[in-house]
Amino acid sequence: MNDSRGVPLYDEFSLDYDRFVDWSARLAYELPFFEEIFSRYGVRRVLDAACGTGRHAIALAERGYQVVGADLSRAMIERAKAAQGKVTFVEAGFGEFKKKVGGGFDALICLGNSLPHILTPEGLVEALSDMRQVVEKGVLVIQNRNYDRVWNRKERFMPLVAHREGENEWLFFRLIDFHEERMTFNMVIFRKEGGGWSYTLESTELRPIFSQELANLLRQVGFGEVEFYGNYRFSPYKREESDDLIAIAR
Ligand SMILES: C[S@@+](CC[C@H](N)C(=O)[O-])C[C@H]1O[C@@H](n2cnc3c(N)ncnc32)[C@H](O)[C@@H]1O
Repeated sequence: MNDSRGVPLYDEFSLDYDRFVDWSARLAYELPFFEEIFSRYGVRRVLDAACGTGRHAIALAERGYQVVGADLSRAMIERAKAAQGKVTFVEAGFGEFKKKVGGGFDALICLGNSLPHILTPEGLVEALSDMRQVVEKGVLVIQNRNYDRVWNRKERFMPLVAHREGENEWLFFRLIDFHEERMTFNMVIFRKEGGGWSYTLESTELRPIFSQELANLLRQVGFGEVEFYGNYRFSPYKREESDDLIAIAR
């Protein structure tokens, strides 16, 4: 793979991603959901697709699952590999998991609003169809933001995230520019390291995925059962209210 596949925003963001995410709080909230789903369906082998710095993959491996993590960003994959050696991490993007990682997984998880980085309906069909081949007899779990709400209300700003290490500080400010069919997701990172403040701005394009489209496409690529939840506590999905759209497909 050559460097021309650099991933906007995330190659740079890989350096600070684990400062942006409070992993101990996030995993404490999210892992019980996966353990429930995985025990329900007898899951042993898991692919974490668009794994970022690999923290879900590593946490699941520590709980005894056999896990592979994959992401298009080489920088993210390098961070993930550096974190530990139990999980296999592979540089691979949407649509190429079957080819680069193989099939036979009991579960594929795709978390943290990663799927909206696919910018066309055709690309989304291709990605879901590839996922289907990876978990032919297994379960697919996708967690996106709830665009039925975010898009309709044009929710432009996301809560500020602050992180501190001794005297150094990071502030993560996220804002969305809405266009006709897509969004630009902007991340401004303010850094106070060794005295004064500096900042960087990185952006990437996103395409909203609405619940009806996702339900239709999951069925189109061969999933028979599709359930939606509105968060990791198994709350029912409500289009106008839920924070998340979590799809479980088999
Ligand atoms: C918001 S992060 C989510 C990371 C992790 N899953 C989480 O929940 O924290 C989005 C991830 O999607 C990855 N990504 C973006 N476009 C991708 C693509 N076409 N194929 C695979 N991964 C992609 C980025 O590199 C980044 O790691």
